[in-house]
Amino acid sequence: MTTAFVPSRRALELARRSLRPVTVSSPGPGVISLIAGDPDFPTPDPIREAMVGAVSSGFTRYAHSQGDPDLREFLASLLSRRSRRPYTSEQVLITHGASAALAVVMLAVLDPGQRVVIPEPTYSLYADLATVAGAEIAFVRHRPDLHLDLDGIAAAAARARMVVICNPCNPTGAVYSRAELEALADIAAEHDLLVLCDEAYDHIVYEGVDFTSALQIEGLAERLIYVQSFSKTYAMTGWRVGYLAAPREVVVAAAGLHRTFNGPVNSAVQRAALAAATLPDDRLEDMRREYQARRDIVVRMVAGCPGLRLRPPQGTFYALLGYRLSLPSTEVTRLALERGVAVRAGAEYGPGGEGFVRIAFSTDRSLLVEGLERLLPLLAGE
Ligand SMILES: Cc1ncc(COP(=O)(O)O)c(C=O)c1O
Repeated sequence: MTTAFVPSRRALELARRSLRPVTVSSPGPGVISLIAGDPDFPTPDPIREAMVGAVSSGFTRYAHSQGDPDLREFLASLLSRRSRRPYTSEQVLITHGASAALAVVMLAVLDPGQRVVIPEPTYSLYADLATVAGAEIAFVRHRPDLHLDLDGIAAAAARARMVVICNPCNPTGAVYSRAELEALADIAAEHDLLVLCDEAYDHIVYEGVDFTSALQIEGLAERLIYVQSFSKTYAMTGWRVGYLAAPREVVVAAAGLHRTFNGPVNSAVQRAALAAATLPDDRLEDMRREYQARRDIVVRMVAGCPGLRLRPPQGTFYALLGYRLSLPSTEVTRLALERGVAVRAGAEYGPGGEGFVRIAFSTDRSLLVEGLERLLPLLAGE
């Protein structure tokens, strides 16, 4: 006799509250996908070679549960240089992508019922993970220019435990200024909040835009949970490696959860990540320039469509397009699929994303142009 499967309460709660509908379908043949935040570049050669070398030279056994000591040591020195504060390797936890860093840190710091402030639209995983942790989510909509609504954040901060930001921001492409981050630090200090800052796109920032890392904000020193990924900067989405850096007590709690859920990250992949981290920035410049050229194509094509709204992305490889139809964004994505282009519904990124769709320009120029030619007339109500 079989018993009918009933998901756990936690799984049901996630399915009920998730911003992101659970779909397993990938766009069919002939559909241009502007969905995935997955760089179309190959992982740079020195990283691939380091992986092969690591496997050949015996990095085939369990790694240290907190992460390869050499990699953590290197990252700690990088973080110390950027922040001008001493970070030790004990404050770094290597994780299965930034996704696992986000997951364990949410579970490490949030108790059920505690409030987490999430400026939005933003990366949907934050709210989903906070839901799994049983936290209360206080969304604070970005200002119309897609920057932080600091008054709104201050108003939501009372009784909160943590605020989560993504800088540069997926899906808006906004890069928060130093002044914004300093004001956020003041709010965090006043309400004794932890500040989780996910900087997965910190190397994809366009000319003329100053990027300030949360690491450089003195006022965040005591309360910063810094999350980073190798996925986007080094075109390593499939390698599954990222890290977090935080005050030691947070790292100890997060490491315990990461060990419990995941165990250590693949040994050889961590050696490849070390090769990535030591790659000179000029090896990344070609990719950044290409994203910028694609960003310019998007901005130009959208400007040719009266009525569409777009704040030119300052970083990331995403653009959030505001449309004219009076339809929910999930319905617009369905209609877009019928026209042969797959995009994400703005509502996936929070209530403030309604009325928008997100495109990713991590795909080559010709597909991007053809995808936009299919999409923009629909968004303009033609
Ligand atoms: C802002 C942000 N953080 C984290 C991630 C997940 O990164 P990873 O591949 O390292 O799990 C993504 C992926 O899209 C992202 O956009």
